Amino acid sequence: MHSFKLNRELAQLAIHQRIELCSPILKRFRKIFGRYFFSTFLSKYLINPSVISKKYYNLMEREFLLIEKYFFQNCKVLSIGSGIGGLEVLLDKKLNTHISFIEKNYVSKKIKYGWDEKNQEAYNNLYLLEKFLINNGVEKKNFNLFDFDADKLPYDKFDVIISLYSLDYHYDFEIYKDYLLKVLKPDSILILDTVRPDYFNQLFNKIDIIKEDVDTVHKSKRIACRN
Ligand SMILES: C[S@@+](CC[C@H](N)C(=O)[O-])C[C@H]1O[C@@H](n2cnc3c(N)ncnc32)[C@H](O)[C@@H]1O
Repeated sequence: MHSFKLNRELAQLAIHQRIELCSPILKRFRKIFGRYFFSTFLSKYLINPSVISKKYYNLMEREFLLIEKYFFQNCKVLSIGSGIGGLEVLLDKKLNTHISFIEKNYVSKKIKYGWDEKNQEAYNNLYLLEKFLINNGVEKKNFNLFDFDADKLPYDKFDVIISLYSLDYHYDFEIYKDYLLKVLKPDSILILDTVRPDYFNQLFNKIDIIKEDVDTVHKSKRIACRN
């Protein structure tokens, strides 16, 4: 079975970003002991990083296979809210992409999942994200990292923009709308998970539905949008 190189701190971040990586017992402890104790302690010390690494690899490989057809060799990618970047490691390995990452550089004290009106929830660390990419073979020349709260965002034109379970899943597309309209080319593709695909029907000419999550609280759809 394949896995990523990842230490305990990165495994903990992966769990915050993808709660499905948690074992049922850890989820139960989260309910019993509360979000703060879970986020700061249980999610770090009650996990086995090598098990998380294998589960995370499998999850990211499934995500890669679902959206692979929208990418091509050497394409320029923008990833908004990548998490620790497992999907992006696979894109780099298989398609030699160049990826710009926009993420937040803090972990909320009591991680709350759901719609975040003020966009204050975050679960990442840019130092660890960079370490993960490099340790898993992504060369420094193939990526750039941008802190959403502190950096000037990149004004390049991108071939594909991805935001899995981040933009318009946890926080409003409007936050990025003006920026994205500037960095999309006429033939660019935007892939994201949303609970309101109809809103994107008004903004783009063509929408493909890639998958539907019916069992989650959000009941979202993953869509690929283009003009
Ligand atoms: C649920 S996680 C999804 C991570 C990853 N895309 C995945 O599918 O595993 C959402 C991510 O969005 C990030 N995030 C929150 N607000 C953001 C913003 N305004 N810009 C970029 N990333 C953001 C969080 O820090 C977190 O890593």
